[in-house]
Amino acid sequence: MKRIGVLTSGGDAPGMNACLRAVVRRALYDGLEVMGIRRGYAGLIQGEFFPMTMRSVSNIIQRGGTILETARSQEFTTQEGRKMAALKLGEANVEGLIVIGGDGSFRGAHSLFMEWYIPVIGVPATIDNDIYGSDYTIGYDTAVNTALESIDRIRDTAAAHERIFLVEVMGRKAGFIALEVGIGGGAEEIIIPEVKTDLKAICARLKEGKKRGKTSAIVVVAEGDEAGGAFQIAEKIKASIGLDFRVVVLGHIQRGGKPSARDRVLASRLGAAAVRAINQGEKDKMVGVVNGKLVLTPLTDSWEKKKKLDKELYDLASILAK
Ligand code: F6P
Repeated sequence: MKRIGVLTSGGDAPGMNACLRAVVRRALYDGLEVMGIRRGYAGLIQGEFFPMTMRSVSNIIQRGGTILETARSQEFTTQEGRKMAALKLGEANVEGLIVIGGDGSFRGAHSLFMEWYIPVIGVPATIDNDIYGSDYTIGYDTAVNTALESIDRIRDTAAAHERIFLVEVMGRKAGFIALEVGIGGGAEEIIIPEVKTDLKAICARLKEGKKRGKTSAIVVVAEGDEAGGAFQIAEKIKASIGLDFRVVVLGHIQRGGKPSARDRVLASRLGAAAVRAINQGEKDKMVGVVNGKLVLTPLTDSWEKKKKLDKELYDLASILAK
């Protein structure tokens, strides 16, 4: 293999730049040429390629977002779109593609491999941490720390006003972010899609807490819970709770900012591992870290198998919230 392409796709995640840096520098170190592809699959279809050098990735390890930019491309979900993408890769003599993104991006990469036999390797990067085959995804640790910092601030005002706060965090259909910030932020309640939500019981526990002398409370809500987002839950519990409360949706704040040390290290390891894998002839796989070790997983497993949430942590949170 002489030349590879690299793109970032789907929602951006802090650490994508650190990963790009690792991909480019490891590839050049191994004697491969690298084409950067702008705007994810949208740019791939448009042929937005440019050669990357050691200097293209200088000074980006600490930056959030992605210098290649990213997109959610509708066109790439069609066979026609993927045909155009394969054509553009052929024209640019790109023999393998590294896709840094989440499961939607991996589904696209897998189809490109199945239809056009283009070797693809995925690198898991999403704040949601909802990808099987890696204990952690790039961006998750930073997002958790960002959300936690906000929750600490919210706790100050909650205590000052003796209020309950419902704080909604991201995570798509998974509760990884909510559980971790719930534990780290000492939340009284954590509402996540993996555990059936009993709003009556939650209200009763909050009232009980008040009786025990708790003057304020934080309820962390994962955006994907079946009971709804924080505003909907607030509407549902308003009448029964009889206590003063406020709602905060943290939103895209969780996606931006400098990557944490853990995310930079993870991104560097995974980016370099992706290059090694593609150069060794691996295809249709994802690189990940499981129990501290680098592993390869079939791309299809990354979304077909479900990464388990640590139920013990969830149970611990409710004990510690007393
Ligand atoms: O997958 C990352 C994520 O931030 C999710 O947590 C969230 O549900 C979604 O992306 C938001 O997507 P967008 O920024 O495209 O609205």
